Amino acid sequence: MRSVINILDLSVEEIDALIATANDIIANPKKYSEVCHGKKLATLFFEPSTRTRLSFEAAMYELGGHVLGFSDAGSSSATKGESVADTTKMVNCYADIIAMRHPKEGAPLVASMNSKIPVINAGDGGHNHPTQTLTDLLTISRKKGKLSDFTIGFCGDLKFGRTVHSLITALARYTGIKIVLISPDELKLPSYIKKDVLVKQGIEYVQTDNLEEVLPELDVLYMTRVQKERFLSEEEYIRLRDSYILTAEKLKIAKEDLIILHPLPRVNEISVDVDDDPRACYFEQALNGKFIRMALIMELLGLKAE
Ligand code: CP
Repeated sequence: MRSVINILDLSVEEIDALIATANDIIANPKKYSEVCHGKKLATLFFEPSTRTRLSFEAAMYELGGHVLGFSDAGSSSATKGESVADTTKMVNCYADIIAMRHPKEGAPLVASMNSKIPVINAGDGGHNHPTQTLTDLLTISRKKGKLSDFTIGFCGDLKFGRTVHSLITALARYTGIKIVLISPDELKLPSYIKKDVLVKQGIEYVQTDNLEEVLPELDVLYMTRVQKERFLSEEEYIRLRDSYILTAEKLKIAKEDLIILHPLPRVNEISVDVDDDPRACYFEQALNGKFIRMALIMELLGLKAE
């Protein structure tokens, strides 16, 4: 049995294989429609979600399997004081695989240590979000035809943005990646990621607070929401929330083959007038999340299409 808690739980070769499977699912969906017949996915979401939970559920249904779970910790026995470990042991009685989101960093790891069935981290606090990273890698690979030799700018809340932390960790294993970190001083990438990932792997990176200055050199722009739920002070959130607003006007100086990604949800960091720009890929990115999660569920259950 194997779980995916951190993107580093998957080798580069395994990620390449998942991307290949996802591309095949996109091309031949019928081939996969009964692969998970009789299998059950439990979605244990202790924190709100639209894309991750619904794409996991859609993924299992499209593989011919079933789904059970909860979307709100308030409707689970966590409210009565049940631990993550005990909840996981219970769900082992009812399901074949678990996708868990939790506001506490490390909760899915605790679940995996108390589980005989695979556990997938569907986002833990400000820490990791490995299936979003797989979604991002699939989207970059489909749009750029490669996962190497490009410049990517991460813009917004790089401190609390778990999708940023996971994607940087993943990209550090590919070649020719240049990283531009664009944030206000208060929302800079945590120093442990700079030290343990960027410096350790010798990844070229720069830091700036000026999006317009660096926009023309980017091949990929990864916008992020300022994570209101992680702030201790409402005042501080209000001061920082509009640090960056990408508009159609600002994009005039960007490359024609730029791709704009965002894990979503957006608040107002991407103006709706950008949505019709062919460089805006964030809705397609959300769709890709379903296909890569189908590939991951199959892999962790040891199932293949006939
Ligand atoms: N990208 C993402 O994790 O979205 P949700 O919070 O809606 O799942």
